[in-house]
Amino acid sequence: MVGTMKMWQYAHLEAGLEDAIHLVTGPIPTASSLVKDQILVRVLNVSINPVDYKLPESFMESISVRRPAIPGLDFCGRVIAAHTSVHTFTEGQLVFGGFSRTPQNGTLAEYTVITAAECAALPVGIDPEQAAAAATAATTALQSLPIDVVKPGATVFINGGSGGVGSWGLQFAKAMGARFVTSCSGTAVELCKQLGADEVIDYRESDIIAELKGRGAVFDLVVDNVGNTSDLYDLSSTILKPGGTFVQVGIGGTMDLKSIAMIVKRSLLTSVLVGRRNYYFVKANNSTELLTQIAQWMAEGKAKAVIDCRFALEEVPQSFRQLKKRHTRGKIVIRVAGLRLAG
Ligand SMILES: NC(=O)c1ccc[n+]([C@@H]2O[C@H](COP(=O)([O-])OP(=O)(O)OC[C@H]3O[C@@H](n4cnc5c(N)ncnc54)[C@H](OP(=O)(O)O)[C@@H]3O)[C@@H](O)[C@H]2O)c1
Repeated sequence: MVGTMKMWQYAHLEAGLEDAIHLVTGPIPTASSLVKDQILVRVLNVSINPVDYKLPESFMESISVRRPAIPGLDFCGRVIAAHTSVHTFTEGQLVFGGFSRTPQNGTLAEYTVITAAECAALPVGIDPEQAAAAATAATTALQSLPIDVVKPGATVFINGGSGGVGSWGLQFAKAMGARFVTSCSGTAVELCKQLGADEVIDYRESDIIAELKGRGAVFDLVVDNVGNTSDLYDLSSTILKPGGTFVQVGIGGTMDLKSIAMIVKRSLLTSVLVGRRNYYFVKANNSTELLTQIAQWMAEGKAKAVIDCRFALEEVPQSFRQLKKRHTRGKIVIRVAGLRLAG
């Protein structure tokens, strides 16, 4: 007999994802349905990301994901079954990770099926909630900090240091030995200092662009976790040292044709203007390799999740309403199984 599970599902979107999702009951995926490289996981905790709602609300979702669909990329959970081709994890093991592409059946459910290559072992002593809050935000932050640039002596500007990606990025930049300036607003200034920022600019108190312009070409790397205007990119050839790098993470509030065209244009321009400024757009990649590096830093106490707020599985619409305010400090997490395990 096939057991049942609770899961959030959406089919048609007339407005926001938070109004389109419904908590429904459906069959738990079976071990026999697993294909090569897949594991079946009992989900303990989930963290949500802006892309969880941006993609379903964009023109791209209907062509990339079949519906009804379960949203959610990131999780920490226990392996219930693994395909015979999987040799990295065993039944009963705690793992964390996230889908690298928006799946049809995501993590906002009591069980999910994911490839082993998108997961890593939960480090001993790390709470599952902490690990669930890593995944996409943390792997994105790590990819935004190229190791050949971010090293002791390097100077970095991270636009948006207090959100999910930013809060991980600040800690990683610190662990990598860079000196860095970041931006955020209000009470997040103190948080960014605690996460290791050498200097914090409150974008509501000062004109960031004017402030940075006055410094001249002092940065080895500029990371844009916000992307709501092109001002920072336009300024980057002035504030980056010759051959410096501009990394694009955020593309503003929505995913539309304009933002995609902007990324393509900037990437093409960079290949024409070699030597003036390097540019790349981070593409989320939850690989075992990146997740394991993050797990190691968490186990060593070099990085930890900043949790903004917690919701129960039944409260997922409220969690998206909160995320959409676009002032999350660290991560929003969902407790699915109601367990807190240490070690
Ligand atoms: N390329 C990729 O693969 C990838 C992966 C993950 C995320 N993303 C994108 O990256 C962006 C950040 O993601 P996230 O998960 O960190 O989002 P988030 O947790 O919702 O964080 C949003 C943050 O943006 C900050 N912010 C808003 N306006 C700002 C401004 N004008 N200047 C500086 N900071 C500002 C807020 O800081 P305050 O509250 O301090 O104002 C808030 O903490 C989103 O657009 C997301 O879609 C891209």
